[in-house]
Amino acid sequence: MLETIKYLMGSAGPSGFGSNSTADQVTDHCPDLRSITAIITGATSGIGAETAKVLAKRGARLVLPARNLKAAEDTKARIVSEFPQSEVIIMALDLSSLDSVRRFASEFESLNLPLNLLINNAGKFSYNHSITEDGIETSFATNYLGHFLLTKLLLSNMIKTAKTTGVQGRIVNVSSNIHSWFSGDFISYLCFITKNKCEYDGTRAYALSKLANVLHTKELAYRLKEMDANVTINCVHPGVVRTRLTRDCEGFITDLVFFLASKFLKTIPQAAATTCYVATHPRLENVSGKYFSDCNEALTSKLGSNTTEAARLWIASEIMVNFKGIKDTLSLGLSHIK
Ligand SMILES: NC(=O)c1ccc[n+]([C@@H]2O[C@H](COP(=O)([O-])OP(=O)(O)OC[C@H]3O[C@@H](n4cnc5c(N)ncnc54)[C@H](OP(=O)(O)O)[C@@H]3O)[C@@H](O)[C@H]2O)c1
Repeated sequence: MLETIKYLMGSAGPSGFGSNSTADQVTDHCPDLRSITAIITGATSGIGAETAKVLAKRGARLVLPARNLKAAEDTKARIVSEFPQSEVIIMALDLSSLDSVRRFASEFESLNLPLNLLINNAGKFSYNHSITEDGIETSFATNYLGHFLLTKLLLSNMIKTAKTTGVQGRIVNVSSNIHSWFSGDFISYLCFITKNKCEYDGTRAYALSKLANVLHTKELAYRLKEMDANVTINCVHPGVVRTRLTRDCEGFITDLVFFLASKFLKTIPQAAATTCYVATHPRLENVSGKYFSDCNEALTSKLGSNTTEAARLWIASEIMVNFKGIKDTLSLGLSHIK
């Protein structure tokens, strides 16, 4: 109750920011980002587009991978018209395809650019059941598995950049508090929704993908520490905001839900604030493996903080990215991970 009142009032937490803070405000005193190269996925609309705009304003060089290149060029044009000094590079990437992720990573490496900041923001809510070319359920493939592979392929560049520049690298996974709606065994559920015909619940599948973002953050933070890498990873809940995320289920019911929830909705500049805070604020130097909401550290669900489950998801993900397309092997391999 108290938390709800604080949220509605926009009271500032220990960070000095709260639910009403905007991306612009939280980056107001951040260091000059002119030496920073950032990759932001999903910057063609919503939270990602605002994140890109604000980081460009602060001077960062942006690489914006997108499956819709026309929409990405529009984002770039908007940024450049507002901040003419910005450097924005558009590249092709469809996160629901592991081949596309591999292609993007190799094209990015061929540019010989450093990489300081990776914001895994792109997301999809698949209302109807669908399976990707790699045999994975679409929400899970887009929101989590594509980002898992992307991060894995870009990590050595990030570690090297941090070493040569002395500037700590940061990875931000955009999750959601809906991750706490998933309970049960995620491997079994993933095998279930990966079948061609199943009783599909889009919300549960989306919650699973967002839980996977949280567990990925936990496990990679642990691995980065073990490697003594000067790179941190954290995840965020941006808050609830009306964007194109619900495009698969537009209509009267969705309008009604947003109307009833209107008091709790954020604006897009507010929804991009937590990502921008975690990506840039000096206070978060050396902070890794944490979950943030309303620009303050917050608690994940019990399952989201389970390190055994995080390690289990990591093994499952390695199987999925290495044995793509072999659906039977995938199900068999996953069901043997205890
Ligand atoms: N909105 C909310 O209330 C809310 C709440 C909690 C968490 N989140 C999370 O916030 C993040 C941003 O969502 P949003 O609300 O800003 O939604 P949005 O406006 O729909 O933006 C999603 C972005 O992801 C991109 N994307 C989707 N599928 C892709 C794919 N296969 N490959 C590459 N890019 C892809 C979209 O590109 P296209 O233009 O090609 O579709 C778009 O740029 C998501 O991770 C979402 O889960 C949102």
